[in-house]
Amino acid sequence: MSLTRPDLDALPSYVPGRSVPGAIKLASNEVPYGPLPGVVEAIAEAAAGSHRYPDMGVVALREKLAARLGVDPQRVSTGCGSVALAEHLVRATTLGPQDEVLYSWRSFEAYPIITAAGGATSVRVPNRPDHSHDLAAMAAALTPRTRLVFVCNPNNPTGTVVRRAELDAFLDAVPPTTLVVLDEAYREFVTDADVPDGLAAYGDEPNVVVLRTLSKAWGMAGLRIGYAVASPAVSDAIRKVVTPFSASGVAQAAGLAALDQEAEMRRRAVLVVAERERVQAALQKLLPEVPDTQANFVWLPLRERSFDFAAACERMGLIVRPFPEGVRVTIGTPEENDQFLAAAEAALNSP
Ligand SMILES: Cc1ncc(COP(=O)(O)O)c(C=O)c1O
Repeated sequence: MSLTRPDLDALPSYVPGRSVPGAIKLASNEVPYGPLPGVVEAIAEAAAGSHRYPDMGVVALREKLAARLGVDPQRVSTGCGSVALAEHLVRATTLGPQDEVLYSWRSFEAYPIITAAGGATSVRVPNRPDHSHDLAAMAAALTPRTRLVFVCNPNNPTGTVVRRAELDAFLDAVPPTTLVVLDEAYREFVTDADVPDGLAAYGDEPNVVVLRTLSKAWGMAGLRIGYAVASPAVSDAIRKVVTPFSASGVAQAAGLAALDQEAEMRRRAVLVVAERERVQAALQKLLPEVPDTQANFVWLPLRERSFDFAAACERMGLIVRPFPEGVRVTIGTPEENDQFLAAAEAALNSP
């Protein structure tokens, strides 16, 4: 007899992008330019008061996010990264194995883990051959038991997007009693005008939640602040299941400082996008199946060669992220990207 739930034995563990001393890390979709100006100073100041509990309501940060987004602060909740909010949403919508969480696959690897850990049932719809969400098949997979749907846009790890017309049609097919999470962790890197800003396009739908994060474009992956914009009722439910005090005082202060640096964040995102276009074009010459990406990473659909490719990159000093279907590589600095492209060419051309 086990002390813990026996079903956890079957649950895969989250595999983080590895950090290897001395190697270039292109494995976790961070932006390579360091914290935004003012963030380190804000952390130092907040640290001086860190013998006190932080503001549990995260009021100042939620108000600043809300003002930036043009929504009522009541509709904004924060989490210890957006991954925690995704987990809270599973907890807030499902009661047990009879309740289904629907998502495309392969997508963000936390979805199956948080669904299973929450005791609900995953329903995975395979990506299309072009590696993008198959929203028509996802609509067909909706059942009266579907409580929650994740639409990852752009999709991690494939970088593919869903565009306005297909998302409109999908949301029309979703009953009002099913919650749809538009996971937009990489929204700041989107340049395709046909890819809707989930908040602007669907934010007023009572059954839509938009999930974003300060981890990626805002350079705060190590500080752990994500946010959700939802209806007041859903926001209240999220806040009921949030672990109390999980947004540390240091993280809240960092978030407030980072949000003052929107112009610099956008300048860096433009650099990332320019490099993304360059890396994508070079890779597509080496491997034509590489899909177009709208995120800060590229996807190499190498299937059974994925782990060998990642190992070859590692021998050349680059850490990338292999999955059974392909390899995800984060856009780094121009020099890092040059090194990756050289390594990729060598690895793809070796027998
Ligand atoms: C699609 C997607 N959503 C959410 C997250 C979670 O990010 P964080 O918890 O750092 O906000 C990630 C991180 O990789 C992601 O790729």
